[in-house]
Amino acid sequence: MDISKRRGIMYPSFEIYGGVSGFYDYGPIGSRIKQNIEQLIRDYYVIDEECLEVKCPTLSPEAVWIASGHLENFTDLMTECLKCGEAYRADHLIEEHTKKSCEGMHISQLDDLIEKNRIKCPKCGGNLDKVYNYNLMFQTFVGPGKDKESAYLRPETAQTTYLAFRRLWEAGRKKLPLGVLQVGRSFRNEISPRQGIIRLREFNQAEIQFFVEPDKKSIENFDQVSKIKTKIATKDDKEFNISLENAVKKRIIKIQMIAYFLGRSLQLFEEMGINPKALKLRQHKDEERAFYSTDTWDIEYISKIFGKIELVGVSDRTDYDLKAHMDLSKQDMTVSYEGKKFIPHVVEIAYGIDRPFYCVIESCYREEKDRAFFKFPQEIAPYRAGIFPLVRKDNLPEKAREIFELMKKERIHTFYDQTGSIGKRYARADEIGIPECVTIDYETMEDNTVTVRDRDTKKQIRVGVDELCEFLLK
Ligand code: GAP
Repeated sequence: MDISKRRGIMYPSFEIYGGVSGFYDYGPIGSRIKQNIEQLIRDYYVIDEECLEVKCPTLSPEAVWIASGHLENFTDLMTECLKCGEAYRADHLIEEHTKKSCEGMHISQLDDLIEKNRIKCPKCGGNLDKVYNYNLMFQTFVGPGKDKESAYLRPETAQTTYLAFRRLWEAGRKKLPLGVLQVGRSFRNEISPRQGIIRLREFNQAEIQFFVEPDKKSIENFDQVSKIKTKIATKDDKEFNISLENAVKKRIIKIQMIAYFLGRSLQLFEEMGINPKALKLRQHKDEERAFYSTDTWDIEYISKIFGKIELVGVSDRTDYDLKAHMDLSKQDMTVSYEGKKFIPHVVEIAYGIDRPFYCVIESCYREEKDRAFFKFPQEIAPYRAGIFPLVRKDNLPEKAREIFELMKKERIHTFYDQTGSIGKRYARADEIGIPECVTIDYETMEDNTVTVRDRDTKKQIRVGVDELCEFLLK
């Protein structure tokens, strides 16, 4: 995180006013990397999986959250110190104390554990109040005066995708499965978030809703992922190192579509630069699963610093959401398809962006004897290349700018730098993970070739200016 702040990758928001936990800025370098991560997800789903993409408001009227169940159920269990007023997530506080999981416990069980273990406020030692349900949604009002309407910032993008299902059904030419991607911001008023960008109050998601026939949760392309071997933990604590094909055959993962998208997500994370050896599939236990799901699987990354980080959740949301909105809005969500009439079921793939972003940073960081750098894959790196004149004289800067302008025209995002020694410029480029450095030297002026230095191997080769675009793109 320290390196990240210094290199303009990310830093706490509102720093000049002391910051507010749970909010982070993406800096100039981080914004590029985040954009590239989002684009990779978009390419997987919009191009490969033929999904439609939508963008909906982040603020929705109360009715949406009454229907979805979030107003009643999207809660964490909280306790407050009776002396200093500090708020704590009750389950986390007890787990830190007892080193045992409180997953799925009721309010009365948590109250008992606080009493039995004599747990006090970690800040001031005061007594803790009774545990209660705390809703994680941010509330606000739309409009002024007597007409103002209660509204909430969305805690997931998914819900806003469901609302326009009838229009999406038309746009998708009334075919199933119908996949719809939404990339955007979500908000959760988390209780005392303390893990940097792992738990944010305003965060980024890329969520895909696959509308399917209720009894057809299989997929034609399963062989694309079937041979992937991975670590799996089931809800009854069994662990396997098994191929996805066998996991489905042995009914460890019961729904083939879930196994398929877990496999695609493993491929996606590896392409982003996340260490595949640190990834694991984990099924949610019955008591931890969200109220809208009948089966959920996460991909977790085991971080050197934060421990387990959940990157994506793949869930069978059945017809829960469409049915809920049909009941409250009285709008028909049924479809007539291949001679049957039904409410489509939803298989959801819910990616966070910020957590994978962190895992890319952690996985790609390298320290060598004489340098520290990020080994980002080309598609993720903030720039394709650095363009450097060897010296600031003899027309080398002019030639370098000419090449820089050529890259701009070809829409190859490069970075121009002429300050400091060439060694220092290489080091600066390595520090932010630029894959190639292009140096314009005296030979360039004679034969129109440049030196291209590779970030990872430090090897240098000569490339003709005429072939440079193609070389960098490849
Ligand atoms: N629509 C389903 C849904 O929202 P989720 O497991 O609550 O499911 C999906 O969230 C993903 O969003 C998570 O796997 C995680 O990557 C990301 N996420 C959730 N809460 C977050 C938070 N407070 N800060 C950062 N990322 C978060």
